[in-house]
Amino acid sequence: MIVAIDGPAGAGKSTVARAVAGRLGFTYLDSGAMYRAVALAALRAGAPPEEVAPRVRIALGERVLLDGEDVTAAIRAAEVSDLASVVAARPRVRAALVDEQRRLMADGDWVAEGRDIGTVVAPDAECKVFLTASPEARARRRAAQLGVDPAIVLAEQVIRDERDAGRAASPLRAAPDAVTVETTQLGFDAVVDRIVALAQSRR
Ligand code: DC
Repeated sequence: MIVAIDGPAGAGKSTVARAVAGRLGFTYLDSGAMYRAVALAALRAGAPPEEVAPRVRIALGERVLLDGEDVTAAIRAAEVSDLASVVAARPRVRAALVDEQRRLMADGDWVAEGRDIGTVVAPDAECKVFLTASPEARARRRAAQLGVDPAIVLAEQVIRDERDAGRAASPLRAAPDAVTVETTQLGFDAVVDRIVALAQSRR
């Protein structure tokens, strides 16, 4: 079974998806980490991301490995976040990573998180959630996580949101059969409970 959780940055996808996977006993897939790893590899190699994407080896789990090196922290740097959203707009990069995501999820039970899981990667997913929150709430949460000024996070987030939603290749949007969960007013446990219940009702 696949539980697809898509939505904009800062909606709480990572923590929610991880917790949902834990509760269901499914494997968690962070597709954004793959775009971030390609961005980091391209940055380091000074090479186009299209060239880098098909040849790097990305391993996901407790840690994120790029060609065997632990890059869990490095892929969260502001510079990499910014480049990841540029890299993610390139169709050939997306094609390579979507193939890899489908290959990984061909067997077993998964909670996969990203922007296009329910629309492109796994359009037949049994359970699709579009997780969202107001831009201010999302910026506030990210700023608290990173220990930086919410106003700066909000300004950068607006740019990335536009890039993610406005790109031609797989723009961020909810799948028609996704259940939208608005998390601005909802506590973390309530969000997780709702998605777990939804997934169990679809088994
Ligand atoms: O979720 P994140 O912030 O780690 O994602 C990093 C970037 O990759 C972000 O700009 C959105 C993009 N992304 C994407 O286009 N498709 C996905 N399935 C996951 C992430």
